[in-house]
Amino acid sequence: MTKKVLVIGNGGREHAICDALARSPQKPELYNLGNAVNPGIKNLNAHIQIGNPSDPQEVCAYAESIEADFVIIGPEDPLAKGVVDALQTKNIPVFGPTQQCAQLESSKGFMRSLLKKYKIDASPAFVVFENQNEQGMRQFFETFDGQIVVKADGLIGGKGVLVAGDHFETLEEAIKFAQSSIEKFGRVVFEEKLLGEEFSFITIVDGETVLPCPVIQDHKRAFEDDTGPNTGGMGCVSDEHGSLPFLAPHHLQQAQDITERTMKALASELNEKYVGVMYGGFIATREGVKLIEYNARFGDPEALNILPLLRTDFVEVCEKAIKGKLSEISTLSFEPVATVVKYLCPEGYPTNPVKNVPLERYTMGENVFFASIAEENGSLILKGSRAVGILGKGKNITEANNACEELIQQFSGPIFYRQDIGTKTLIEKRVKHMKEIEDSI
Ligand code: AMP
Ligand code: GLY
Repeated sequence: MTKKVLVIGNGGREHAICDALARSPQKPELYNLGNAVNPGIKNLNAHIQIGNPSDPQEVCAYAESIEADFVIIGPEDPLAKGVVDALQTKNIPVFGPTQQCAQLESSKGFMRSLLKKYKIDASPAFVVFENQNEQGMRQFFETFDGQIVVKADGLIGGKGVLVAGDHFETLEEAIKFAQSSIEKFGRVVFEEKLLGEEFSFITIVDGETVLPCPVIQDHKRAFEDDTGPNTGGMGCVSDEHGSLPFLAPHHLQQAQDITERTMKALASELNEKYVGVMYGGFIATREGVKLIEYNARFGDPEALNILPLLRTDFVEVCEKAIKGKLSEISTLSFEPVATVVKYLCPEGYPTNPVKNVPLERYTMGENVFFASIAEENGSLILKGSRAVGILGKGKNITEANNACEELIQQFSGPIFYRQDIGTKTLIEKRVKHMKEIEDSI
């Protein structure tokens, strides 16, 4: 019988998830619940239900009504709101961590304390404050010469992290932000600022087995040459070896080791197995690999680099993870190519984006992933956030970048993107930076 798979969420990541499901030899019937119609998901012939992806009752009711064989949760918010737990009480199989396990992403304080308790040596120096301890904050600030990062202890859509030098300079600014986090979430985390090159190590886990995907580097700043405000990610690269030119095998080994130990620590701490995506945001520093954050879901745009290359049947991967049988899949198989993804964004994004204006020219289909965009009266309308993710593949990053740029030529309208992502100049800058970090010992 044809399987029914329900995907929760309607962004670029969920388009890539639906696309990977559609390529499964099992040819599942696709269902999607999100707060708008994603034209790319619609194009895959999915049944679309408009609703609130973060409302456990609504998701359960829809999953029951269609008799879903299993559900995949795309974004972080439904995980933090307990959508997985609600589905589990109804005995509906679900790919995604429970609310408790998802604290790995939703509470930075929980995550840092877990690593400390289980002696996983991957954190920078940090302190969790539960009240406005200005003296403690001053002391931490001074110990690190102001080179610190202040993190709100909850999900606030990519705006919860202040990095010294990028977002603030003074102790007063740090304290003011800390106060708002304490008021909202009861806690705030102060961390030492780490220096190095960041990479996303995304894995599929079932509480026992960790299966890694190609390693990706995201580009968070809005404008060329890593300037401008932080965004959810303007684009990502990965090389033809599923790695990055500035990383060595020992970096990947350390990331794998930290991920495995975290998964096991969670199982001991919570007495629950973590099922779904465990995404480590790591940084290669001169003291080795350190963990910046965990996410409890695929990255966006990282999913656009990874999922289109997946050769292993994604339906089977999800089902095995849900049943705790991932060990039966020894490794995930990916097409051995380099990838470059760039997000086309509305002019003015992220601070003052144009909205409700159409793309003038576009193409749909392979390697094009829709995000904050809606189809209205036959036009594709920009909705104000990252709009279309474009994937280029090639036998090295330069060729992948050329393919990406070529496909971008099919689009026009009030949009911009970061041309520098995937260029030789930017890659060489990263390699040089890593070398400087390593030589500074
Ligand atoms: P997060 O939301 O934790 O991923 O933080 C957003 C961004 O802030 C990361 O991608 C890093 O660039 C930066 N960041 C967070 N924590 C640190 C840290 N301890 N040291 C240096 N940069 C950091
Ligand atoms: N691209 C970063 C993230 O999805 O968190």
